[in-house]
Amino acid sequence: MMDRRFFITLTGLSLVSAALPSGGNVSGQIKKEGKSMSYEAKDYSKLIGMEGFSETLLKNHFTLYQGYVTNTNKVLDTLAQMLKDGKTGAYEYAELKRRLGWEFNGMRLHEFYFDNLGGKGGLNPNGKLAKKLAEDFGGYEAWEKDFKATGAMRGIGWVGLYQDPANGKLINFWINEHDVSHPAGGNPLLIMDVFEHAFMIDYGLKRADYIGAFFKNINWGAVEARLK
Ligand SMILES: [Fe+2]
Repeated sequence: MMDRRFFITLTGLSLVSAALPSGGNVSGQIKKEGKSMSYEAKDYSKLIGMEGFSETLLKNHFTLYQGYVTNTNKVLDTLAQMLKDGKTGAYEYAELKRRLGWEFNGMRLHEFYFDNLGGKGGLNPNGKLAKKLAEDFGGYEAWEKDFKATGAMRGIGWVGLYQDPANGKLINFWINEHDVSHPAGGNPLLIMDVFEHAFMIDYGLKRADYIGAFFKNINWGAVEARLK
């Protein structure tokens, strides 16, 4: 196994050094530059002021997210160059390919997370999502209990309420780090970050208190709009 620090040195990647200043371009996720397309960080500064989330925590979190966007672009660009240069057989190529899912999902999961925050008020009890949660979990309360229990698990990662497109069923998944145990083809409805950086500045080890604050700020309209 390659030591992560060695790998980062080898590839020239560093989350911290790659992080951009806060306040990224807001013109969209993908920017066309000549023939190549690169991802751009979205601006989530409107979330500053949410109850239960300090400005310091949110600004740090935005910076981390911007680092994932930068690194996704770097990995993609480096792989494209190696392909052009005929270096696809190189050990570095294989390791960067392994890295891509981690960086890409680190970027995309943060976008789902920030996009499903900033709401006020609970889930519409008469809406289609409440109806689906009742069908698949027996009711909102049972779903919330399962989602929160998943978020309280030891380890770093994410909790995702996913819809299985094969039959429409809703299932809560634990996602390890960014890239392990996503349901293939699953449609993410609600995503919650439970990496320590998402809460330790404000809550220390009290993860349950952070999860409570997260629930107070869910943008249920955005979540329901993802339901198919
Ligand atoms: Fe995060």
